[in-house]
Amino acid sequence: MEQRRSFIKDLLVSTEIDREVNAKGWVRTKRGNKQVAFVALNDGSTIHNIQLVIDLTNFTENQIKEITTGASLSVNGMLVKSMGQGQSVEIQAKEIQVYGTADPETYPLQKKGHTLEFLREIAHLRFRTNTFGAVFRIRHAMAFAIHKYFNDRNFYYLHTPIVTGSDAEGAGEMFRVSTLDIENPPKTEDGKIDFTQDFFGKESNLTVSGQLEAELGATALSNVYTFGPTFRAENSNTPRHLAEFWMIEPEMAFYDIHDNMDLAEDMLKYLIRYSLENCIDDLKFLENRLIEEEKNKPQNEKSEMTLIEKLNLILKDDFVRLTYTEAIEVLKNSTPSKKGKFQFPVEWGIDLQSEHERYLVEKHFKKPVILVDYPKDIKAFYMKQNDDGKTVRAMDILFPGIGEIIGGSQREEIYDKLAARISEMGIPEKDMWWYLETRKYGTVPHSGFGLGFERLILFVTGMANIRDVIPFPRTPKNAEF
Ligand code: 4AD
Ligand code: MG
Repeated sequence: MEQRRSFIKDLLVSTEIDREVNAKGWVRTKRGNKQVAFVALNDGSTIHNIQLVIDLTNFTENQIKEITTGASLSVNGMLVKSMGQGQSVEIQAKEIQVYGTADPETYPLQKKGHTLEFLREIAHLRFRTNTFGAVFRIRHAMAFAIHKYFNDRNFYYLHTPIVTGSDAEGAGEMFRVSTLDIENPPKTEDGKIDFTQDFFGKESNLTVSGQLEAELGATALSNVYTFGPTFRAENSNTPRHLAEFWMIEPEMAFYDIHDNMDLAEDMLKYLIRYSLENCIDDLKFLENRLIEEEKNKPQNEKSEMTLIEKLNLILKDDFVRLTYTEAIEVLKNSTPSKKGKFQFPVEWGIDLQSEHERYLVEKHFKKPVILVDYPKDIKAFYMKQNDDGKTVRAMDILFPGIGEIIGGSQREEIYDKLAARISEMGIPEKDMWWYLETRKYGTVPHSGFGLGFERLILFVTGMANIRDVIPFPRTPKNAEF
């Protein structure tokens, strides 16, 4: 009788031994001698492999030859206590069906120790490495934990549109969505492209943020959040930017900026705690990977803490909260500023660069920092204006090794102030009528923020490049797979 397939994760912790089981997966390694072969099988359910013990006298030479690194197979056999080191149970193989062979001459994942850059070029196969198995299991766990966190706190998951006509962040970094013939687009009388003839009858683009629509939901459902892909056509080829990334955007009626910061800090701590409680095997693997990697680094570049220590540190203390203006003072008085070491000089009004953010978090405070009350000129139109006429109630959360992980604000809920800001910034009011109407009817103080999902995963996994925490990264000049 065909055994029901068990996941390797469950077999490895099973206390019911000496029974027939079936496992399916991909061969990681094979070793052995003339009598017996030992195969490490992995099915993605865990970082750990199960060992198959194959008595060669029970199989033909051809069968054994097919079982190579990368081959996929199904095995029936006895789950027994292992005599060997490194595992508690193993499978004594009785029947093996090879689904797909993997020619050792050409299979790209033969050897261990491929570089992450090389693996990016074979992103279709990199899931089969320990590193990417760990990263994508953790990515899943974090997505699940986000939904759980909000569901347990009366938030509704709102699906905001991916195609939109608005530029929420006002940064103009949008990908156009159009079905017009780009070789020969229809023109208006004054020679401009006639978008009324386009699919949506107007200019449209991929969304940079679901926030504006989330705000509409929050003015009736109280607490909502979005969790979807967002798109930015910014040409920043950095280890922290993607052209397509996932963002979590909660939006809460009756929340001021302080409630907003409290929620953001609580959520980040919850997610990190969740990873420690649910992903420890994968985290330990990634931690060891980093320790190995650091061995080749010069002493002054070595990290003082391991990955798990870094995660625990976030849970320990309150995040530091200070205003942008105070942060500018700290930066001005800093050694790198005085010695002219910052690439971008510090003065009130500048958009903080990654070097500034990292100085504050990693050198000065040595813990996560929440900056509030930014100059209005460097922030989006929707942020609540402070009475000083210069700043807005924005907040950014800065993390060690990452820089900005969250950006958010209290929203301007007063119709006249919002309308004035919209016209001041040259945003066509006709595109914003629906947004403005929520301030006309039953307006409420409200706040929200955006968490960059991949930046969270970067932090939790300790990976260095954002291209390595999303299955198929979209970056300038790269949309392979
Ligand atoms: O600071 P941002 O641009 O804020 C917004 O989009 C607001 N609408 C959020 C809100 O208040 N609802 O983006 C939010 C976060 C950043 O802090 C960063 O973590 C991430 O999104 N992010 C990116 N992640 C990867 N690649 C990019 N190009 C990113 N741009 C922003
Ligand atoms: Mg931001």
